[in-house]
Amino acid sequence: MADLDGTSAEKKDKEYFTDIPQNKPDFFLKGSHQYDWGLQNRLAHIFNPESGRTIMLAFDHGYFMGPTTGLERVDQTILPLEPYCDCLMLTRGIQRSIIPASTQKAIALRASGGTSMVSANDEWEGEIGGQPAALSRPGYEPLSNEHLAVDINEAIRLNASVLAVQVFIGSQYERQSLQNLTNLIDAAAGYGIAVMGVVAVGRAMERTVKYFRMATRLMAELGCHMVKCYHIEDGFETITSCCPVPIVIAGGKKRPERDALQMAYDACQEGASGVDMGRNIFQADAPVPMMRAVRGVVHEGMNAKDAYELYEQLKAES
Ligand code: R5P
Repeated sequence: MADLDGTSAEKKDKEYFTDIPQNKPDFFLKGSHQYDWGLQNRLAHIFNPESGRTIMLAFDHGYFMGPTTGLERVDQTILPLEPYCDCLMLTRGIQRSIIPASTQKAIALRASGGTSMVSANDEWEGEIGGQPAALSRPGYEPLSNEHLAVDINEAIRLNASVLAVQVFIGSQYERQSLQNLTNLIDAAAGYGIAVMGVVAVGRAMERTVKYFRMATRLMAELGCHMVKCYHIEDGFETITSCCPVPIVIAGGKKRPERDALQMAYDACQEGASGVDMGRNIFQADAPVPMMRAVRGVVHEGMNAKDAYELYEQLKAES
């Protein structure tokens, strides 16, 4: 105990730095500087503090689509992509059954659900419970009839950093989906877990800049910590500008790789804080090279042309 009794000749002098004011840590993420420590730490796990952006790999589609193309075997197709993303967007079923608990990636947990493609598909010929499965009258949006599909205690057990809820502005179930959102924000607030509102698109919803501007702002006003939206050619920068929290873009349906990289590039240039992309990565001709090219755009300052060249090069080597 000689080093603790104050008599040791080798004892280091105390240094109080009385002339240096304590640092006030800044926070890098838009609109997030006044959150509590745990919430900020979770957001810093989702978003890279150096680039201020994120690459979320979305493969939660099965919650309403089942085994869609590219997700038939998540262990075979998604796990090889995991090292190159920042965050995994998934359902709790896939998380528990497929994703190693040793992953260092942030978890974005799908927290709403309850409907399927079957009820939304006009082409589908069949019945559910004796009722026609397809209801196509204008304004009817079967997929919007969602409820909260994950309890907050389950989200904590799964160590989620952010919970994702679909919001259907302009649909038959608009009010219900907004109530799902605010109920989840209230539940998650007690534990410092973030909530991401996802702008849904469908028959009753527009894909205009005015619509996206309103939907994203509305969700931020209701308390979302981040918002997921589609990119739009004209005026996307006005959507990011008047949304006070980060926006990430969904990829949408599969398009040529060069076009998908251009979309990611344009979105980031126009104020997006990254991507939450699925089909344009896991349905690409070469998914790992595509993932790495998206990484080039989002985190490494590449333009779409350079990223596409990287994609072609990695594809040729693979
Ligand atoms: C959509 O509802 C799903 O939750 C996906 O997470 C989302 O659409 C992003 O995936 P993709 O880039 O394939 O559109």
